Amino acid sequence: MKKNFIVAVIFSLLANLGLKADEGMWLPSLLEKLNEKEMQDLGMRISAKDIYDINNSSIKDAIVHFGGGCTAEIVSDQGLVITNHHCGFGAIQKHSSIEHDYLTDGFWAMSKKEELPNKDLTVTFLVRMDDVTDAVLNGVDDKMKAEERNKKISENIKAVKENATKDTHYGAIVKPFFYGNQYYLFVTETFKDVRLVGAPPSNIGKFGGDTDNWVWPRHTGDFSIFRIYANKDNQPAEYSEDNVPYTPKHHLPISLKGIKEGDFTFVFGYPGRTQEYLPSFAVENIAIKRNPNKINLRNKRLSIFKRYQNANDTVRIQYASKAARVANYWKKMIGESKGIKRLHAINKKENFQKKFIQWANETPQRKEKYGNLIPEFKDLYEEILPYEIGRDFLFEAGLGVEIVNFSGKFRNLAKLSKEKKIDKEKLEKDKPKLIAAIEGFFKDYYEPIDREAFVALMQDYYDNAPAEFKPAFFSIIKEKYDGNISKYAKHVFEKSIFNKKEKLEDLVNNFSKSKAKKLAKDPALIMFNDLINLYYSRINKEINRLSDELNKLQKIYVQGLMEMQKDKTFYPDANSTLRISYGKVSAFKPADGVQYKYYTTLEGIMEKENPEIYDYVVEDRLKDLYNSKDYGQYADPEDGKIHVAFIANNHTTGGNSGSPVLNADGQLIGVNFDRCWESTMSDLVYDPDLCRNITLDIRYCLFIIDKFAGAKHLVEEMSIIK
Ligand code: ARG
Ligand code: GLU
Repeated sequence: MKKNFIVAVIFSLLANLGLKADEGMWLPSLLEKLNEKEMQDLGMRISAKDIYDINNSSIKDAIVHFGGGCTAEIVSDQGLVITNHHCGFGAIQKHSSIEHDYLTDGFWAMSKKEELPNKDLTVTFLVRMDDVTDAVLNGVDDKMKAEERNKKISENIKAVKENATKDTHYGAIVKPFFYGNQYYLFVTETFKDVRLVGAPPSNIGKFGGDTDNWVWPRHTGDFSIFRIYANKDNQPAEYSEDNVPYTPKHHLPISLKGIKEGDFTFVFGYPGRTQEYLPSFAVENIAIKRNPNKINLRNKRLSIFKRYQNANDTVRIQYASKAARVANYWKKMIGESKGIKRLHAINKKENFQKKFIQWANETPQRKEKYGNLIPEFKDLYEEILPYEIGRDFLFEAGLGVEIVNFSGKFRNLAKLSKEKKIDKEKLEKDKPKLIAAIEGFFKDYYEPIDREAFVALMQDYYDNAPAEFKPAFFSIIKEKYDGNISKYAKHVFEKSIFNKKEKLEDLVNNFSKSKAKKLAKDPALIMFNDLINLYYSRINKEINRLSDELNKLQKIYVQGLMEMQKDKTFYPDANSTLRISYGKVSAFKPADGVQYKYYTTLEGIMEKENPEIYDYVVEDRLKDLYNSKDYGQYADPEDGKIHVAFIANNHTTGGNSGSPVLNADGQLIGVNFDRCWESTMSDLVYDPDLCRNITLDIRYCLFIIDKFAGAKHLVEEMSIIK
């Protein structure tokens, strides 16, 4: 009953009035009902069916989830895809060494034969999506105990998935929306042979580096190119020389016409996670109480990385990917906390909550359902906070030490010391994986960095973590090492096997019971085990229990919000499912007295150029093209310049990287790659005046491919609209 009511509420909002052009990440299958009219009012010239259609090919058939974390789009009838440089970064880095430094020099396959396979890289298409709320909640009611309820839901989900994929090679995912008020099924098709086709040098693909990351005005040529391969029947297959380029149902035409302020745009991709419907207490926990500690711990690691990277080229390559990963969310958190304060978001949420309580108290039914929600939230968020802080320390400091983290891979091996007989067969089976893990770890490991990071991180952890969340080895540090972290570090690095490659390989190749015994006493592994034990005994269970309770409240809260704001159309939080955001190309004011333009140009790259600063080196070849104004068809028709990036008010988040940004006709005009720093609180609170996504202008991307890299054959594969 209740469930049907909620669904009715959600859908009764269809004929709504108050749609906003900017905020929201919408489900493609509901576009026709919820958004088409507004999108067309904003200038869109295609229909919702052109974007998502299960019976005919549509734009959705050109969109893939790339490597599970990014988005990419198909731009030729031979399975060519574009994504960001930072999304292809791992693959590019893995193919790189001092001899073939594709990170620094770029990489261009001049024929299909030269395209490079990538183990473990996949792309996933959405075949179709369906509302399966009724099937998933069949036999479930809110009075059931959490355990029983979750069990029933899991069973139902399993059946839905089996049913959807029977006799096919498809995969299926079922995800909750609006905290379990709705469920959707996603039927997917995953390709496993994805090859690297092209990447610009880092001083284009990562121009501005971590200095400019999250910042507008921006000049990063953040793209890389891959190709999907299929078997002879155009179906997914493991890598094989016999595979052929995939023939897609749809590929995006590319517009060279350019973009103007106010133009309609939409972004089609896989946003990862937003939390727009949290109460004030939750936002305060994230932005005020937790981010600063995480930022501080990452500061420590990053400054160590940087010092060694600047001093040594091998180390610079080894730590490029790691540093980028740590730096990215470090900077995002800084922006997010600032943005929350600047918007007075907590205060605004508190005021809203007062109104909510008033509204809830207006009728007895509401009072019963919603009357206590806000104080209950307050208590639970207070209760969960220390556990979350304990977890933050554990992940950011404890597992921030590389050998400790790495030792975890050998945990099962060490456990064999307790077994009567070692299962030789299983051991042989696990061996290749472990040998590969050792190879991978040491390729990018530089011990002096890890030693320093160990001391810096453990000191902070030791001094500042709440007493009840300190791992067991802290008492060893206290008793045996007088609280001296450096001495303890010396001991760990001397005695552990996890910083000694040959020994570790020998251990795996000639494994024995006595080696297992020694392994079980390895100081790095002991640290890992202490951390994991702490996590499972004191942190994880409590966080899960409290999160379950919070989710239950959130589910009811969202129902209340919808009931209270009848004329508002709600979009579900991002959850790594395919979404559409739409809005307009628009400039903004980041601060009092400052006005930003909506686009940047090659001029700006020349202005930023500084051969002394790694992030701002400009390649001679690019300077030559700039000086000779050899821009071909890629210059803007109006000002004759090369436009590099532009901003718009599409609501995006992490995971939208690599997403196509399309114009009113559904043609590709750019590749999404970032948000402005002033916008990064939009995962919690969206503000139309401040929130802008940053897009690479597709004309700059093609200019680099054609004029800079001389890979014109790739542009010739694409469908270019002049
Ligand atoms: N901020 C962008 C995103 O969240 C780009 C990250 C990669 N670039 C970097 N300099 N770390 O993914
Ligand atoms: N760079 C982000 C990504 O990798 C997108 C930026 C954002 O969070 O909006 O998905």
